[in-house]
Amino acid sequence: MHTLQETLTRRGIDGELQSLIETLANCANEISALVRGGALAGVLGATESENVQGETQKKLDVIANDLIKDALSAQPLVKGLASEEEDHVVPAHADGRFLVSFDPLDGSSNIDINSLVGTIFSVLPAPAGDVTEAAFMQPGKNQVAACYMLYGPATVMALTTGDGTLMFTLDPKTGDFMLVEERVQIPEDTAEFAINMSNQRFWQPAMQAYIADCLKGKEGQRGKNFNMRWIAAMVGDVHRVLSRGGLFTYPQDTKNPAKPFKLRLMYEANPMSFLVEQAGGVASTGYERIMAIQPEQIHQRVAVILGSKNEVNTCLDYHG
Ligand code: F6P
Ligand code: MN
Repeated sequence: MHTLQETLTRRGIDGELQSLIETLANCANEISALVRGGALAGVLGATESENVQGETQKKLDVIANDLIKDALSAQPLVKGLASEEEDHVVPAHADGRFLVSFDPLDGSSNIDINSLVGTIFSVLPAPAGDVTEAAFMQPGKNQVAACYMLYGPATVMALTTGDGTLMFTLDPKTGDFMLVEERVQIPEDTAEFAINMSNQRFWQPAMQAYIADCLKGKEGQRGKNFNMRWIAAMVGDVHRVLSRGGLFTYPQDTKNPAKPFKLRLMYEANPMSFLVEQAGGVASTGYERIMAIQPEQIHQRVAVILGSKNEVNTCLDYHG
């Protein structure tokens, strides 16, 4: 068994990127302990504030955000950071090499029901000049690293630095993330999809048609029965896709015309797309590769269809 540090050294990851990844892992280690404490750690329930996106902040959203913000601000390699829970980008060290975007606690509606939550990080190279929102406006294909940590029955980390996707499990006795899978491969075919079916009547025709054909099962044109899962935490659903394949989507909908998309490009869709592509999967909006999108705003939202290559491509065929 190899630790995160041993694995990154053996793979020749440059020392600075390694140091940054270790900072991210340490944050997750601390958040994991708070999540495990639950009511005893005093972390459950909501605050009285909303984030810039109009969502009520849970206590743990704020605690995790502050913890990561403090750790990244103390890491000299970080030039600036952007978070789901921060209205604006936050400058850190003028001569830092990296910009870090993060979702401190993904799936926060699961906190109070003791279900899956996690943290998502995306690392971009820092351009010269001041840390403004413009510095972060780089397509996902520029990412130098991406990872998520899932606080489940075990705390796990999926990590990519652009040379495959690796999976680690936190050893609670030592606090080390241990390598459990060096080259994650998403099966190309699947009979499992993940979508919030309650939005069905608000989807566009392409997604309506794709899901309708899946639901027809063996008797329909797909010729096989499908299973459905929905964890309501992207980290949980993407982890299942990396573990056994599947298609995960949060498509465009007209439920709230002011908000046609749900997931955020910079700290949800991009890092997950990087992890999925590096494991042999596909990640698209339905019309373009997510990692090719030129971002315009730090909190911008996007449609997401990702997972098993052949199944995602089938879904994309419906989009024309
Ligand atoms: O961060 C947004 C998010 O919580 C994702 O983690 C998750 O996939 C989705 O929203 C759940 O959405 P809904 O509440 O519509 O099921
Ligand atoms: Mn989230």
